[in-house]
Amino acid sequence: MPVKFYRSENQVPLEMHKVRVVQKLFLHPVEERLRLIQEAGNNTFLLHNKDIYMDMLTDSGVNAMSDLQTAAMHRADDAYAGSESFYRFKEAVEEVFGCKYVLPAHQGRACENILAESFVKPGKVALMNFHFTTTKAHITRLGGRVEELVKPEGLVPESDVPFKGDINLEQLRARIEELGPENVAFVRVEAGTNLIGGQPVSLENMLAVTDICHEYGVPSVLDASLLQDNIYFMKMREAACKYMSVKDIYHLLAVRMDIIYFSARKLGFARGGAIITHNKKIHESMMQFVPLYEGFLTYGGIDVRSIEAMTQGLYESLDMEYLCQGPEFIEYLVKELTDYGVPMITPAGGLGAHINAQAFVPDMPHNEYPAAAVAAAMFIAGGIRPMERGTLSEQREPDGTERYAELELCRLAVPRRVFTLSQIKYVADRVKWLWDNRNLIGGLEWTMEPPVLRFFYGTLKQKGRWQEDLVEKFRQDFGDSL
Ligand code: F0G
Repeated sequence: MPVKFYRSENQVPLEMHKVRVVQKLFLHPVEERLRLIQEAGNNTFLLHNKDIYMDMLTDSGVNAMSDLQTAAMHRADDAYAGSESFYRFKEAVEEVFGCKYVLPAHQGRACENILAESFVKPGKVALMNFHFTTTKAHITRLGGRVEELVKPEGLVPESDVPFKGDINLEQLRARIEELGPENVAFVRVEAGTNLIGGQPVSLENMLAVTDICHEYGVPSVLDASLLQDNIYFMKMREAACKYMSVKDIYHLLAVRMDIIYFSARKLGFARGGAIITHNKKIHESMMQFVPLYEGFLTYGGIDVRSIEAMTQGLYESLDMEYLCQGPEFIEYLVKELTDYGVPMITPAGGLGAHINAQAFVPDMPHNEYPAAAVAAAMFIAGGIRPMERGTLSEQREPDGTERYAELELCRLAVPRRVFTLSQIKYVADRVKWLWDNRNLIGGLEWTMEPPVLRFFYGTLKQKGRWQEDLVEKFRQDFGDSL
């Protein structure tokens, strides 16, 4: 990893790319921001992108493409079957992961659907470090169950544990024995564990999981959607990885895991997704679902231009100078905020900076959705769009009771290669202001609660009139400023 130092004390991240295409942004006055968030039912998913200054909802499908990716898109080979674009993608998968078998699917959750259809039966259990919303929804839809085995340190918000996404290996072994290997659909390791703050898993832990899986004959699955960031942390925090090339790590994981799937909306700065394996039998068992749900085997529901972008993006995902940009910006933002006293998930992970909303508004109960309330307040404070990753993102239990999230997180995603450091500084400034005025933030209640994946399009309203009070305080403190 090339080292870049400044002569001054103030070490800030340095981008190894330049911006050549820009998009105009708008920052509405605070009164307008209040109107917009209320119109969106206090759900940041329902805001219009044109009304947002800093779109930090997600790092999915919003990463900046490189010149080589956009150039590659021009040579897309449109064909229902046998497109050259697909064969170029297959070649990239062989080069980057060393895997021969590839099934394309239009995004990460489409891969999860195929995986669940192939391995999950009623009563079967999928063991994993931690669930992701769409992964769990597909497993439970088919009558399966998810059990999470992340080490207890993973759920401690402020910590200096380098790999908070690691699976508890003793517990993994014990659960496979208790359940019986035949009742375990698969063991899934999620790289860059999303819902606990983009926290990485060590290479050592991933490999140990595969050993246990092989011992019991249970399929091992790697969700590699956030593997790019995870590899950065392996290289920075794990001695054994320091002198391995990025490609060596990809290859080693692909040899040992039975199945790897990823959302190319994250991995490879593109759109699309894929399921890869070394194992012909596993490949064939999943194959039938691609034409059924996605499209023919050589496009899998993905536009061929995106397949070309995905191909080039995969090669770029080997480049540490690209890989480090996201994590370095996130670390900068997390440091700015923790130095000020804002409760953040630490150490900084990948994907984005995560505010510990439970500690931000400590008196607010889970069923007033603290993380969603902080997210709505953030939009009012700065036209910043975070994502709720807490109780609101959970599914209710079958009896209708709330399942309170282990962590109430307000996520500020940092799409890769997109924002400048001054924009990140702006975010830090507004979050600090909100922290100073946290006593004004109140709770939310449902006005419309959908039964499945409710966080996507459910609507809520404020309890009381705290949002108007926040706007008034903003005017007092910021005067005429936007
Ligand atoms: N796995 C992980 C770890 C993810 O973070 C995501 C998506 C998926 C699977 C599903 O992929 O969106 O392409 O269908 N995470 C996005 C997010 C949506 O904002 O965290 P997808």
